[in-house]
Amino acid sequence: MRHLLDTQHLSRAEAIEILDVAEDMADTQRREVKKLPTLRGKTVVNLFFEDSTRTRISFEAAAKRLSADVINFSAKGSSVSKGESLQDTAQTLQAMGADAVVIRHGASGAPRTLATSGWITAGVVNAGDGTHEHPTQALLDAFTIRKRLFGDDSRGRGLDGIRVTIVGDVLHSRVARSNVWLLHTLGAHVTLVAPPTLVPQDVSGWPIEVDYDLDHAIAAGPDALMMLRIQLERMSAAYFPTEREYSRRYGLDARRLAALPPDSIVMHPGPMNRGLEISAEAADSPRSTVLEQVTNGVSVRMAVLYLLLAGERPHTEKEDLR
Ligand code: NCD
Repeated sequence: MRHLLDTQHLSRAEAIEILDVAEDMADTQRREVKKLPTLRGKTVVNLFFEDSTRTRISFEAAAKRLSADVINFSAKGSSVSKGESLQDTAQTLQAMGADAVVIRHGASGAPRTLATSGWITAGVVNAGDGTHEHPTQALLDAFTIRKRLFGDDSRGRGLDGIRVTIVGDVLHSRVARSNVWLLHTLGAHVTLVAPPTLVPQDVSGWPIEVDYDLDHAIAAGPDALMMLRIQLERMSAAYFPTEREYSRRYGLDARRLAALPPDSIVMHPGPMNRGLEISAEAADSPRSTVLEQVTNGVSVRMAVLYLLLAGERPHTEKEDLR
């Protein structure tokens, strides 16, 4: 695996391999000493042009637990605010010896540009580009669903026949896009629930169903209900009448939580708008996997960095994951 730019082009075998390596990594994270020597001498650069808490810290923890050196670069307070281009920034980091660049950028496609421009030779991991994709988030979500459903019997499995319902601001969500492709590749059935104004126009080409009624979608009995953050910072216009009205129609409140099938789980990528798309009862309930998602995120990112920088396991081919 040379880069991880999206989940749309990930094959089922590649996806399951990442999840399986992540299982191995998770096993090591239960030990008292969590650090492995695997990536000693390698340098991972976190290149973040957009704000982030959990994703940046998660990549940092993942790289450090594999003994890589980590350089954190955030655009604020850097020469980017003086107008330096992505090319110059990237080449500067490469000149400092970066082996992998983890990039978050407001422009959809920036990680692919970085990976294919020839500016740098480092492996590139997309940590969220505009409204396009956020592949490691989808991988950690799939990992979390698989682990909850199959426990110690997860390895080698996809999510065949599993029903996942994704609710909320799909229009602005790279998390939703990455999940749609990955969950479909793994064999899950995906339903998107949102007001019509927050459903993307190109959704007719996606392998999903759309439901505009959350109560109806809950009555269908999903195995996992994934709530998305309303991304007010990406909204230039009014997409719904009021927050209160949005919450009433599309928020996961105590009543809807109680209507879910007994074993179904509630997910959220964070950060949560408590009281808007998800109530405190739902966020803090035993069904909620919010903190498991954070824990699993470190294992999944360890797996991705490992596959990128330490080479493949013997049975895999030298295939570009793109
Ligand atoms: C997501 C993101 O940045 O796309 N958050 C994350 O990575 N944990 C989702 C969001 O910001 O709502």
